[in-house]
Amino acid sequence: MDFKQKNILVIGGSSGIGLSLVKLLHQQNANVYVVSRSASEDWPEDVQYLLADITGNLDSLAAFLPAELHGLVYSVGSINLKPFGRLTEEDFLKDYQVNVLGAARIIQQSIKQLKNAGASSIVLISSVAAKIGMPYHASIAAAKAAVEGLAISLAAEFAAQQIRVNVVAPSLTNTPLAQNLLSSPEKREASAKRHPLGKIGQPEDISRLITFLLSEESNWITGQIIGIDGGLGKIKTS
Ligand SMILES: NC(=O)c1ccc[n+]([C@@H]2O[C@H](COP(=O)([O-])OP(=O)(O)OC[C@H]3O[C@@H](n4cnc5c(N)ncnc54)[C@H](OP(=O)(O)O)[C@@H]3O)[C@@H](O)[C@H]2O)c1
Repeated sequence: MDFKQKNILVIGGSSGIGLSLVKLLHQQNANVYVVSRSASEDWPEDVQYLLADITGNLDSLAAFLPAELHGLVYSVGSINLKPFGRLTEEDFLKDYQVNVLGAARIIQQSIKQLKNAGASSIVLISSVAAKIGMPYHASIAAAKAAVEGLAISLAAEFAAQQIRVNVVAPSLTNTPLAQNLLSSPEKREASAKRHPLGKIGQPEDISRLITFLLSEESNWITGQIIGIDGGLGKIKTS
């Protein structure tokens, strides 16, 4: 895949899946634009970045964005696992704000640039927990199900403008966000075993799929929710 002369915006590109994506896109000659609250020492030198909180004021975004945007990836999220009885209204609102409203606001602010490109691709990130019931996931599963609803609705609304919208839905992936779940050899082994393929995800597993969905090689794919989860979301092996 080659992204020469393609402008791609990665929201949450300073860590985990987003950082892996920034590096991969850069290797493939994209002009990469990143928004996050902090900078990463691992960014290639010519990455353009804006330090901003997606829950706050986004006025600086307009001047930061190029006139044409060929891709937008929203890689911000949360893992807030609690028994249902301990979840507060604030927990639900926060998960919704970070996962759903943040994505909606960024898409609204970038839609002109996405249209200007003639054909473009938006990728949002859900979770296997939006489709497979898991204990303690009520708040994040509700927010990620809303991400999926947002995406398929926008895929329909933007299809005539050749703006594709797809979702990737990972299971547990080895990023800073998931470190609490992977903090001991026992936890890592138990997590790996829950997956039919016997391992957890790596950021590159997810960013490779996102890169494909951004590229013209996927130009007839829109409105899809693609599981990338070591088989957890679809199959049983015993
Ligand atoms: N890791 C998993 O197991 C897993 C599983 C399923 C789904 N996911 C989803 O995958 C996506 C990426 O997660 P990840 O694991 O790569 O997480 P991560 O390593 O924590 O990275 C999250 C990125 O978002 C940025 N960010 C967070 N809050 C922000 C805010 N308010 N404003 C601007 N930027 C913000 C962070 O940068 P700053 O801190 O510098 O702002 C960072 O660059 C999320 O949607 C997550 O829900 C992850």
